Amino acid sequence: VFSVRSQRIEPFRVMELLGRARALERAGRHVVHFEVGEPDFPTAEPIVRAGARALESGRTKYTEATGLPELRDAIAGHYRRIAGLPLDPGRVVVTSGASGALMLLSALLVDPGDVWLMTDPGYPCNRHFWTVAGGVSHLVPVGPETGFNLTPAQLRSVVTPATRGVLFASPANPTGAVLGRRPMAALCSTATELGLHRIVDEIYQGLVYEDGADSLATVLEVDTGAFVVNSFSKYFGMTGWRLGWIVAPAAAVSALERLAQNLYISPPTISQYAALAAFEPEAIAEHERRRAEFARRRDVLRRGLDDLGLAVTGSPLGAFYLYVNVTRTGMAAEQFCWRLLEEFGVAATPGTDFGRHHAQEFVRFAYTIALPEIEEGLARIRRALVAWGVSA
Ligand SMILES: Cc1ncc(COP(=O)(O)O)c(C=O)c1O
Repeated sequence: VFSVRSQRIEPFRVMELLGRARALERAGRHVVHFEVGEPDFPTAEPIVRAGARALESGRTKYTEATGLPELRDAIAGHYRRIAGLPLDPGRVVVTSGASGALMLLSALLVDPGDVWLMTDPGYPCNRHFWTVAGGVSHLVPVGPETGFNLTPAQLRSVVTPATRGVLFASPANPTGAVLGRRPMAALCSTATELGLHRIVDEIYQGLVYEDGADSLATVLEVDTGAFVVNSFSKYFGMTGWRLGWIVAPAAAVSALERLAQNLYISPPTISQYAALAAFEPEAIAEHERRRAEFARRRDVLRRGLDDLGLAVTGSPLGAFYLYVNVTRTGMAAEQFCWRLLEEFGVAATPGTDFGRHHAQEFVRFAYTIALPEIEEGLARIRRALVAWGVSA
C-alpha cells in the first residue's frame, strides 16, 4: 500500500487530453496545441553554447547546495537591472526549477495541519506540494470581479488562527492576471499584519505585455520579507534544464541550505553554468524579442476569441495564457475541450485542472504556438461554433 499522502495527489486532467491529441497526430491528424504551458522557442543560443562549454570542460560535479556563487551573484544583479534593487546574493537559493523552490519552501514553512491560502483557479501543483508536507490548502475563489486576483478583504475574511501563509503567482497561471504595485503592496501588508508568510511565485516575471504606471517588476519592491519563487523555465526558455531560484529572507537561508543538501545535494551543475549566460545582453535581447512575439500572439488570439463571442475575462496582462469563458457554447469546459479536440483537432485545457471555482465555465488557451497556428486554431473554433449551432 502506498502512503495516504501519495494517494491524495491528483493527475493533470489535461494529460489525458494531451495523450489523445498525440494519438490523433500519430493517426495523421493535425492538432493545434493551445494546451501547452511551455514556450515553443528553443533555449537561446548563448545559453546553449554556455551549457555545451560546461559539458565539454568537465563541469559535471556537484556544486554548492545553494547554487554556484557566480550564479547567485548574477541573479542578484538581475534584480538590480529590472527593479533597481540592491539584493544580497546570499539571499538567493538556486533550485531545480520553481518546482524545486516550492518543494523546499513547503518543507521549510509547512507543519502538519497548517493552513495556507491559495487562489482558485491557480497552479494545481501548489496544493499537492502542501499535501506532501502535511499542510492544508484553503483554496480562495478569485474571479473576474477582482481581475482574478486575491484582495486584502478576502484575506481578512478567510483567515483563521490555523492560517500560516498565502501563496499566489503574479503573473498568474491560468489567468494571466498581474498584480500592480498598489494592490500587491496592499495584499502583502495585510498578510503581514495578519501574521502570514507570503510566497509569491514570479515564474512568469518578464512576460508582461502592458507596462502601466502601477507596474511592478517584483514583489520585493514592496515586501522585502516575502519568499520569492522564480525560474529559468518561462521568460528564459529553459524548461528542460530544470533550474529556478528562491529569494528568501536572510534568516531562512541556512535552513533552506540544509534542506537542499539533504533532499538533492545541489541543483543541476551544467544547467547552472548555462544559466550564467541567460543574463548576458545577447540573451536578454533574444528574450525581449520573444516577449514582443508573445505580445503579438496574445493580441491576435484575444481579438480572435472576442470576435467569436468567447469573452476573455479579467485583464490578462502577462504569462502566456488567456482564461476564456465558454458558457455561451452551452457546454461544460471539459465537454467543450474534448469535442473541440475530437471534432476539430484543437487542444485547450479545461478550467477543472486549476481548481473548482466556476471551473467548468473556463478554458485556458496558451499562446505558445506561432501566429499561423493561432490563426488556424481560431478558424477551426469558428467552424466548431457554427457546426454546434452556437450563434456568433
Ligand atoms: C505558476 C507556476 N509555478 C511553477 C511552475 C513550475 O515550473 P518549473 O518547475 O519548470 O520552474 C509552473 C509551470 O508551469 C507554473 O505555471
